[in-house]
Parts: sequence; C-alpha cells; structure tokens
Amino acid sequence: MATKHILIVPGDGIGQEVTAVGKKVLDKIAAKFGHTFTYDEALIGHVAIEATGNPLPDESLEKMRKSDAVLFGAVGHPKYDNDPSAKVRPEQGLLRMRKELGLYANLRPIKLFDELLNASSIKPEILKGADILFFRELTGDIYFGEKGRKNNGDTAYDVAEYSRYEVERIARKAFDAARTRRKKLCSVDKANVIETSRLWREVVQKVALEYPDVEVEHQFVDATAMLLIKDPRRFDVVVTANLFGDILTDEASQIAGSMGMLASASIGDGTGVYEPIHGSAHDITGKGIANPLASILSAALLLDISFGMKAESEAVINAVDKVLKAGFRTRDIADQHTPADKILGTTAMGEEVL
Ligand code: NAI
Ligand code: MG
Repeated sequence: MATKHILIVPGDGIGQEVTAVGKKVLDKIAAKFGHTFTYDEALIGHVAIEATGNPLPDESLEKMRKSDAVLFGAVGHPKYDNDPSAKVRPEQGLLRMRKELGLYANLRPIKLFDELLNASSIKPEILKGADILFFRELTGDIYFGEKGRKNNGDTAYDVAEYSRYEVERIARKAFDAARTRRKKLCSVDKANVIETSRLWREVVQKVALEYPDVEVEHQFVDATAMLLIKDPRRFDVVVTANLFGDILTDEASQIAGSMGMLASASIGDGTGVYEPIHGSAHDITGKGIANPLASILSAALLLDISFGMKAESEAVINAVDKVLKAGFRTRDIADQHTPADKILGTTAMGEEVL
C-alpha cells in the first residue's frame, strides 16, 4: 500500500474531457488495491494564458516538481493555430514543461488490441500482432533550437541541434527497453542529408557495442514512414529524434486504430508526465465523444513507470481489453459493423472501464 500525490493537468479542449476519465480510473485503482492517491490540479496552455497570461505559470511548474507523477491532457486552441503571429502560445507551455522537468524520453507504445483489427484503414492481415515501442527524443532538435526571421521577415529559420550526450541518453533508454522485449532496435534518422542525423547514427552505433544481444538497424525517416504501414510487424523498439518521432507516431496511431488509443510517457530527470499523443481536438471538443482510452492507458503507464505498480497497470489494460471485447466503441474506433447501442461517449466509455 502506497501513498502518492498525482497532479492532474487537463489543459485545453478534449484534454479536459479525457483526463477527468483518466483520474477516475486512478481513483478506482487506489480503492481496489488499497493505495492512497491525493490529487491537485494545475493550469497549462490556452486556459493558463486566459487566467494568467502565461502558458505555463511558475505555480504549475512548482506543483509538477512536487508531485509523484503528472496526468496531462493536451494544449492548443484554434485562436493561435490561425494566427501565426501570436507571440504567446499554448505549445510554449508544453515545451517549457518538458524542458524544465528534463523529460527527454517520450515512450509511445503502439499496441493494437485484437478487437480493433478492423478499426484501422490498414488491412488486418498486415496489422495483426503489431507491437512497437517508440522512443521519441523530447527536449532537443528543431523544436528547441534558435528560431526567427531575417530579411525583413521574408526568410524564416529553425535551427536543429543535438549533442552527443543527448543522443546517447535516449539511445541507452531505447536499448534497455529492447532488451526486455524482442531485442530489436531500429534507429531512425536522415543521415544521408542532415548533420544532426549523422551524429545521431554515429552515437547509436557506438552505444550498440554495449548491447551485442540487441539486433540494430538504421533506417532513413522517409523509408520508415513507408515501412510502418507496409509491414508494421518488422518493428520492435524504434528510437528517433523529436521531429521525426512526432510525425511517425501520428502515422503509427493508425496501426492502433485511432489517435484516441495512444498513450505516452515522458520521462527523464524530473517528475514523469503521462499523456495521450493526441492534441486538444477542437473539431470534437464539447461534444462528449472523445475517446478516453488514450488517457486511461496513459494512467496505466503512470502506474507502471512512475509508481512501479505492475499489477495495477495491468488491471487497467485488461479492463480496456474487456470493454473492447464486449464490443463497446467510441466513434473513432467504431466500424460499419458496430451496433448503434455499442457506440459510447467519453463518460460512458469511462464507466465501462471502471
Ligand atoms: P489532434 O490530435 O487534436 O486531432 C487530430 C484528429 O484526431 C482530429 O480529427 C481529432 O478529432 C481526432 N482525435 C484526436 N484525439 C481524439 C480522441 N481522443 N478521440 C477521438 N478522436 C480524436 O490534432 P490537431 O487537430 O492537428 O490539433 C488540434 C490542436 O491540438 C492544435 O492546437 C495543436 O497545436 C494541438 N496539439 C497539441 C498536442 C499536445 O498537447 N500534446 C499534440 C498535437 C496537437
Ligand atoms: Mg504530435
């Protein structure tokens, strides 16, 4: 029996709707397994800008530092997406949180629940058994480099930078994980063109020498984009840079059926942050139809990775599996054979899992 303090950071849009469900699942686990979970909430993103003018107020960051884990939703608002000149933006809060907490490793498990074989637009025979663990580097690359305009604003630039140290630490995490799985690691870069990628490949090759039991391959990011949908089962652990990982994992979400199914864990030096890979999804905000399973599965990752609660984490995943086996679907994972009475909204889907 453990006592843990969890910070709930819903953020914007459907982030609010899905973290409410994720929290209920954590509560249920505490009750079932005799743990005491205490909670607090903090602001980030558009809601934080509206309240304080700051996308990540210092108070939120302090609360994150003091908690045992963070269950996070999403940030973003159409107001900024359609106004590229906005100086203060919700995503700045997200990037600052990752940087300040030293969350350099973003784990994105792409696991297809068998029941969802038909929810994907990829053929079932290509998909069956696909199980990939992405390690996306999260605090470097073009997202954090110098950016700006020159030539009176007519030229824009973003600088991508990686240090040996940054590549090495994410590579080690990925190799360690590969050892506990099918012992295959694919490092993705663009070393034929990009200098940071050449350093990336050099460092991964060097780290690989310490893991002779892990089979390593290097792929270019463009080829990887193709291979992911051509033959997803060939991948076990994939490690890649921040930008490539961002794009490839949205693509890979189609292996799992929907963006609404994919959870992530951001870990490193500070408090671990657990969040769906999707954004604030304004197109469905307020409609009560967002799939809460990504947030629920993020809670499962939180229990496992930050609290070392394996059985509790598995209980959550099993509950999700059971609900899917019972035929319940949110709209994003329903297909033409799903009966209307099995298509549930956000809260009702959460209730089934509970
Ligand atoms: P998005 O991930 O929010 O949505 C993409 C598509 O997937 C939409 O059609 C949406 O309805 C659907 N979708 C996403 N999550 C779903 C769920 N749980 N259930 C059912 N359907 C779901 O990406 P989009 O639309 O490109 O961006 C919206 C906003 O989110 C933007 O402001 C963007 O900057 C922000 N964003 C934030 C992220 C974060 O906080 N980590 C990540 C990606 C985008
Ligand atoms: Mg993304």
